[in-house]
Amino acid sequence: MLENRRILLIVAGGIAAVKVPDLIRRLRERGAHVRCILTNGGAQFVTPLTLAALSGDKCYQDLFDLKDESEMGHIRLSREADIILVAPATADIMAKMVAGMADDLATTALLATDKPVMIAPSMNVMMWTHPATQSNLQILKTREVKVVGPSAGDLACGEVGNGRMAEVPEIIAALTRFFQKNDGRGPLTGYKALVTSGPTLEPIDPVRYIANRSSGKQGHAVATALAELGASVTLVSGPTHEADPDGVAVIHVETARQMMKACSEALPAAIVVCAAAVADWSVEGAGQKLKKGDKTPALKFTENPDILATLSQPGPGRPGLVVGFAAETENLIENAKLKRAKKNCDWVVANDVSTGSGAFGGDSNTVHLVTADGVESWPTLRKRAVAERLAERIAAYVQRHL
Ligand code: CTP
Repeated sequence: MLENRRILLIVAGGIAAVKVPDLIRRLRERGAHVRCILTNGGAQFVTPLTLAALSGDKCYQDLFDLKDESEMGHIRLSREADIILVAPATADIMAKMVAGMADDLATTALLATDKPVMIAPSMNVMMWTHPATQSNLQILKTREVKVVGPSAGDLACGEVGNGRMAEVPEIIAALTRFFQKNDGRGPLTGYKALVTSGPTLEPIDPVRYIANRSSGKQGHAVATALAELGASVTLVSGPTHEADPDGVAVIHVETARQMMKACSEALPAAIVVCAAAVADWSVEGAGQKLKKGDKTPALKFTENPDILATLSQPGPGRPGLVVGFAAETENLIENAKLKRAKKNCDWVVANDVSTGSGAFGGDSNTVHLVTADGVESWPTLRKRAVAERLAERIAAYVQRHL
C-alpha cells in the first residue's frame, strides 16, 4: 500500500524526533519515497545528514537557501508529495498550522500545500492537555488534518501521561489506512461486518429504565476502523453520545431484544464484533408508571437473549469470525477464556472495567486478545488505537481463513 507513495516528512523539534530514522527505514522498506524537511528545533535532536542518508534524498532546512529554492522551492516541495506527515508534531508547530504562520520552510510548506496532512503529536502531558493545544487539535481536525496518537506512557520529561508520539508501526498503519481509504479499497473490501455498541436500556415502566455506563466509544471506533479497511459495516447501537461513524450503516435501538432483532436482520455477515454492553435482564414490564405507595415495588427480571452466543451458534450461515468483549472486574483472563468457550465465539477482547481502570466512559483501554492460540496482552491504548489494531488483526485473519 505504501509502494511508490511520496511522503514529505516534516521533523519538528521534539525528543520523539529520535524515532524518525526508524520511521524512514520502515517506510522505505515498504517502497515509499521519503523526503524530509527538518526544522531548527528538530535539528537539535536528529542531524540532517542522518535524514538525508536514510531517505536517500536531500534534507531540506532553509527557506531562504537560494540553491534549494531554485532547485526545489517550498511550493514544489509541498506539491510533489502524496501526503505531508509531521512527526513529531510539537505544540508549537500545531499552533503555527492553526494560525497559518509561515516563518520557516516547514510551516511555509504546510501553508502552501494542497495535499493531505497527517500529524503525529508529541509533547509533555500538560502541554497536550492544555486548552490551547486541545482547541488547536480540534481546529486542525475540522480542516481534515489526520491525527495519529499520541499515546499514554512515560514521557521523556519524566512525567507520565498522554503525549508520547505514536510508535512507528502505528504511524505506518495510519498511513496505510489513509492510502487504502483514498484508493477506495482495503483488505476488507467485499466483506460485510456487523458491530454492536453502546449500552441497552431496559424499561421499568414508561418513564424509567435500567442502563449501564457503556459510552459506545469502543464499539463505534471498531465500526469506524473496519469501514476504513474497506468492510461494509452495519453498526447496531444502543443510545450513546457518539456521532454515527462516516460510511457506516447505523441502526439505533434501545433494548437488548431490539438489538438482537436488528442483528439477526443484518445477517449474513463475515465478521461480527459484539462490543455492546447488553443488559442481561429486562424488567417484567409495568405498562403504567409505577406509583409511590406503601410498599416499595419489587422488580421482576427476565433474561435477555445473549446476542453474542446466538450469533456464534454453529451451523450454516455462522459468520466466519465472531469477536466478543469481556468486561470484567476480576480474574480478567480466566473469565474471558471461560466466556469464549461458553459463548462459542472465536476471539474475546478482555477489558478491565473495574473502578479506576477508566475503561467505562474513558478514552483509553487496556485489553487482552484471547484466541484459540492463546492470550496477547496489548499496552494501554486509546480506544481508537485498540479498534485499529483489532481491525488489522481481523483483516489478517480474514485474508488467511475466509
Ligand atoms: N453480550 C451479548 N448479549 C448479552 C450479553 C452480553 O451479546 N445479552 C455480549 C457482549 O456484547 C460482550 C460479551 O457478550 O461481547 C460479554 O459481555 P459481558 O457483559 O462481559 O458478559 P455477560 O455475558 O453479560 O456475563 P457477566 O455479566 O456475567 O460477566
